[in-house]
Amino acid sequence: MGCAISGLAAKAEFGERTTEDAAAAAHPREDQIQMIKESWKVIRDDIAKVGIIMFVRLFETHPECKNVFFLFRDVEDLERLRSSRELRAHGLRVMSFIEKSVARLDQLERLEALALELGKGHYHYNAPPKYYSYVGAEFICAVQPILKERWTPELEEAWKTLFQYVTTLMKRGYLEESNRQRQLALSPKERPDKRNTAL
Ligand code: HEM
Repeated sequence: MGCAISGLAAKAEFGERTTEDAAAAAHPREDQIQMIKESWKVIRDDIAKVGIIMFVRLFETHPECKNVFFLFRDVEDLERLRSSRELRAHGLRVMSFIEKSVARLDQLERLEALALELGKGHYHYNAPPKYYSYVGAEFICAVQPILKERWTPELEEAWKTLFQYVTTLMKRGYLEESNRQRQLALSPKERPDKRNTAL
C-alpha cells in the first residue's frame, strides 16, 4: 500500500459523500484543467499498468469492493490479480473513461452527460455510490511514482477535483436510474406520473 492518501485517509480527503450532496459538483478550474492535461500526456503511456495497480490497491484498502465483481470476489491472493487478463481489461476500461474525461474538460456538458450515463450503468452493475470516492485516491497513489518530481500538491488537488466532479455526477446518475427503476416497479395505478388528467 504505502501511499498517504489511500485507504482510510481517502475517506476524509475525498469526502466520503452521501446521496444528499450528489447534486453539487465543482468542476476543475482552468489552471487545473491545463495541469491535468499536461500530466495525462505522461500517464497515458502507462494506462494498463495504472489500471491494474489502481484496482489491486482498491481491493487491498477496501476489500468490500471486490464483492461487486463476479470474477474477482473469490480471489484471495491479490498478487494473482496483478497478472489477470480480466483485471487488465477492466482497468483499461476505467482508464479509457478517464482519458475521455480529460479530453472533454473543455466541453463540460459532454463530460457531465458521459459521467451521468456511467453512473446509470453502475446501478445495473450493482456498484453502489459509497465506493466511487475510493477510486480517485488509488489513482493518485498509482500515478505519483510515474510522474516523480513532476507531482506537486497543486496537481494532486487538480486530480482530486476531477475525480470528485466525475464521481459526484456518477452518483447522481446512479440515483436517477435507481428512482427510474423504482417507478417502473410500481404498478401503473401507483405511478405518480400516470394520473389521468383528461376530462
Ligand atoms: C471513478 C470511479 C469509477 C469509474 C470512472 C468507473 C468506470 C467504469 C467503466 C468505464 C466501466 C466499463 C463499462 C461502462 O462503460 O459502463 C465500468 C464497469 C464496471 N465498474 Fe466501474 N468505475 C468506477 C468505480 C467503480 C467501483 C468503485 C466499482 C465497484 C466497487 C465499480 C464496478 C464496476 C463493475 C462491476 C463494472 C462492470 C464490469 C466490467 O466492465 O468489467 N466501478 N466502470
